[in-house]
This record gives sequence, structure tokens and C-alpha cells, in this order.
Amino acid sequence: MLIKAIFLVATALSCTESYKILGIFPMPGISHYILASKLMKGLSEAGHDITMVSPYALKDLPKNGTFTDVVLDGMADDYFQITLKHVNRFEGDSKGHIASLNMILNRFIKIANDTLHHPKMKQLVDSDQKFDAVVMEQFFNDAHKVYAHIFDCPLILLSSIGPNSMVNPTVGNPQPVSYVPHLIAGDISKNLSLYNRAKNLYLYIEEFLFIRVFTHPKHDQIIHDIYPNSPALSQLYKNVSLLLLNSHISLNGPQPMVPNMVEIGGYFIDPPQKLPQDLQEYMDNAPEGVIYFSMGSNLESKDLPETKKRAILNVLGKLNQKVIWKFEEDLPGKPSNVLIRKWCPQQDILAHPNIKLFITHGGLLSTTEAIYHGVPVLAIPVFADQPMNAARAAADGYGLKLSYHDPDFNEETLTSLINELLTNSKYAETAKRKASLYHDRTMKPMETAVYWVEYVIRHKGATHLRVAGLNLPWYKYFLVDIVGSFVASFLLVLYIVKRIIKTVFCKTKIVGRMNKEKKN
Ligand SMILES: *[C@@H]1O[C@H](CO)[C@@H](O)[C@H](O)[C@H]1NC(C)=O
Ligand SMILES: *[C@@H]1O[C@H](CO)[C@@H](O)[C@H](O)[C@H]1NC(C)=O
Ligand SMILES: *[C@@H]1O[C@H](CO)[C@@H](O)[C@H](O)[C@H]1NC(C)=O
Ligand SMILES: *[C@@H]1O[C@H](CO)[C@@H](O)[C@H](O)[C@H]1NC(C)=O
Repeated sequence: MLIKAIFLVATALSCTESYKILGIFPMPGISHYILASKLMKGLSEAGHDITMVSPYALKDLPKNGTFTDVVLDGMADDYFQITLKHVNRFEGDSKGHIASLNMILNRFIKIANDTLHHPKMKQLVDSDQKFDAVVMEQFFNDAHKVYAHIFDCPLILLSSIGPNSMVNPTVGNPQPVSYVPHLIAGDISKNLSLYNRAKNLYLYIEEFLFIRVFTHPKHDQIIHDIYPNSPALSQLYKNVSLLLLNSHISLNGPQPMVPNMVEIGGYFIDPPQKLPQDLQEYMDNAPEGVIYFSMGSNLESKDLPETKKRAILNVLGKLNQKVIWKFEEDLPGKPSNVLIRKWCPQQDILAHPNIKLFITHGGLLSTTEAIYHGVPVLAIPVFADQPMNAARAAADGYGLKLSYHDPDFNEETLTSLINELLTNSKYAETAKRKASLYHDRTMKPMETAVYWVEYVIRHKGATHLRVAGLNLPWYKYFLVDIVGSFVASFLLVLYIVKRIIKTVFCKTKIVGRMNKEKKN
């Protein structure tokens, strides 16, 4: 009886409180939305009361907890009108590097400003709702940090791509330029030549200037245009309690991380479910195995230019394997071993034991799912972070890559890459090894996210996790003041010594001359 009572008390105590959490995710990019909504849904299913601000209404509602959608109408339409609607997403627009930085700047300032001015956001701010934490993605949207100030609660950031130079400064994380590759530097950690480190330094400096000189003042301005009494962005910027990272050692290279950076890579992946009957039978009856081909949700295979489409079909048609291709319209003249579907349960296909190869655009979500299931990839990157993920798959040895823009994108190259991937077992073995690293963790990634979000709320922002370096000015952080004092002291000593020598030397000379004169 007593034991039972103790047990009941213990369970009651271990049961965590339900917190009110505000998620602010107005970025309309589909993969950004998937990452954001999966996190908020997971927090809701852990029993919390979630309000999520985003451009879309959540279709797949949480099974428990409380979930309130605040849909910013108009946001997604604006975004796709400006960016993607009228260009073929495969060919894109090949503007220069600086021009695309400028485009990013303007586009994201607009999203941030439209969010601040959206009637539903004003309504939220004017309501007397209280929140225990604000969660947002860190992605050219610093102005939104003002909401943690407005609701006077801890700020939690999500980085959809793991530790990088856009998020490191918010928590004071060290990023040694000598060996931590910049996001777009490629995997230089395997070749730290003078040239590669110099290029890395250049990318860090360029981004630093872009963010500090151009981006931050604009965000500061749009915050103060609407909330004139809010603290300066420089104060809001680093008031970060927790930085959740969609990365893991099985997916990314090792990097330093301060204590309030927590890796939850792959948290968005649901456990596999049963395939629909027809796909299950199709995959079960494939003695030579199945190849799954998808260019993701943003790019659609139907938009592939005719020549590339034909080249791919000719290659696929000659294989002994069955192929499932996510293809969004009818495909006349497709070979008999190719099955097309407008939509595919990707994760459940990748989970089938007969899967042999995943041909992918190399998006972050798809590459993570390939590692989760230990499936080798042929990455056909088109833009954004895809070339980087593809390069990593090739460097890590669980796949091969062929850029969509490669002049050698043709039947011969595709055939030889696919044959290499199907016949050389090292790719599948590496993919399996990656999967075992991926799954070997103390807690599942979503459980880790829930634990740490509750932790920082329980500990009132957990400022004890913040490193002192966070608030050091750069010249103290890099010891420029010490090196400077040392150099100054050295120069001073040098000067004094020089003066002494000069005086002594002159005196000797004078004395010598006087002696000479005496003799004469
Ligand atoms: C909420 O639902 C999820 C998914 O069904 C389940 O795993 C979890 O235990 C539930 N949590 C609570 C607090 O009921
Ligand atoms: C932000 O939005 C408001 C309201 O739509 C507008 O008046 C203002 O000019 C915008 N600011 C910037 C910098 O775009
Ligand atoms: C910093 O965060 C705390 C909560 O962790 C909040 O109460 C405070 O208002 C924030 N300060 C600023 C300047 O935003
Ligand atoms: C390392 O990179 C440099 C410059 O990019 C290149 O010239 C060199 O061949 C590379 N070395 C190795 C071992 O890959």
C-alpha cells in the first residue's frame, strides 16, 4: 500500500507541467515548414499548449496536447510569386553571388516585416496571452526575436541545418576558421590546404559583413518602426536560451558546440508505417530490388526538360531492378519496370528491405531519411543546400553525385554511376554504418528536443548554460588587446633601448673627440 502511494506520488512528480509555447515560423519554404511544424507537433504531443504562427494550416494535427494555428494568410502567395512561380525551378536564375545575397536580403526582410505588421500578429501581441517560451527558426529573420522580449520569456532557436556561422554567434559558439568549413565551402576538413583555409576565411568574412553591415541594421529598423520602445537588436540577438540543431554526428562533420546547443538531427522522421497494399506487393515481388527516384516536393520531375527526362527513362528502362518514380503527371512510353506515382510514402519505401538505391535531388530531409534507413544515394543536386549535401554523401562514401547542371549529365554517365552504386557493395555498407551511428543515441531526437525545451523553461531561461565569450567584444575574444599590449610594450622597450644606445654611443663619441682634441 505504502509502496503504491510512493509510486503514485513519484509518477505525479515526474509528470511535467504543461507549458504554453509560441512558435514563430513564417518562412514559406516547404522544407522549412515541415521542420518547424514537426517540432511544434512533437512539443504538443508531449502535452504542451502550442500556438504556431506560420503560412500554412497544419493538416496532420497532433494526437494530444493543444495546438492552435495562426495562419498568416498571403505570406506563401507573396513568397512564391516573387521567387518561384514563373521560373523553371530546375533551370532557376543564375544570377551572380552578390546579386543572390541581395535578393535573399530583400526577400527575408519582407517576410520579417510582413510578419511584424500582420493583423494576426498584432492581435496576438495585444491579447493578454502569456507564453513560457518563444521558438523560432534562425534564418535571416532576426527581427522576430522581439517577440521573446514582448512576451518576456526565453527564446529558443531552431537551426534547420545544424551549427553554422548564421547561428554560432547567437550563442557565442567558437567556429575555428582553420578547420570548421563554412556552410558553402564544401568539405574542406579533409584537406586543410592554404588555399582551402583562405577560401574558408573569405566566406566567413563575406557573410559576417553581409549580416552585420546590411542585414542587422534593417532588422533593427523594422523592429523599431513598429515597437519603438523595444531594446536594440544587438541585445535581443544574443538573448538565446537554447539552440536546437537539426544535425547529428552521423549526418554532419564534428564541430565544437557550447552547452546550450543541442543536436536533434532527424527529429522530423516518423517511425515507418505499413505501405499501401499495391506498393507493398510491388516491392515484395522485386527479386532484383527496387530503386526509388524522387526530386522532392519543391522540384517536380514533370518539369524536367524533355532531353533529360528521355535520358533518365532510357537508363532506367535498361535496369534489372524495378523503379518507383515520383512523377507528377502521365508519362507516355515509360518502360515496363518503371512505376510512377504523383505522391509516394517516401520513408516507408526507403524502409522496405528490397530497396537498393535512392535517386534524389539531395535535399536535407531526403538525405537524412536515406541515412535513417541506410540506403545509398545517387544525388542530382539542383540548387540551395543540395550541392553541399550531395558532396557530403560522396565524400562520406554512402553515395555518388551528378550535378543537374553537369555538362556530362547524359545516359552514359547516369548508367555508369547507377551501375557502380548497384554493384560495388561499399556504398550500401557505408550507408548501413551511417544508419547505425544515426540510431545510436541516449534518447530519440524528438525526446531530446522536448527535454531541453522543458529544461530551459523550468530553469527560467537557463542562463547558466551561456558561455562568457558570448558578450565579449571581438578584440577581447580574439585577445587582440593582449597581443596589442604585448606588441606596444615590446616597441616601447625597443625605443628605450635605442635611446640609451644612442645616448651612450654619442657620449663615447664626444668623450673620444675631446680626448683627441686634448692630445692635439
Ligand atoms: C501523446 O501522443 C503521443 C503519440 O500518440 C504519445 O506518444 C504520447 O505518449 C502522448 N502524450 C501524452 C502526454 O499523452
Ligand atoms: C514594413 O511594413 C509596413 C506596413 O506594411 C510598411 O509601411 C513599411 O514601409 C515596411 N518597411 C520596410 C522596411 O519594408
Ligand atoms: C532576455 O530573455 C529573458 C528570458 O530568458 C527575458 O525575460 C528578457 O526580457 C530578455 N531580454 C531582452 C533584452 O530581450
Ligand atoms: C587540397 O586542395 C588543394 C586546393 O584546393 C588542391 O590543389 C590539392 O590537390 C588538394 N589535396 C588533396 C590531397 O586533395
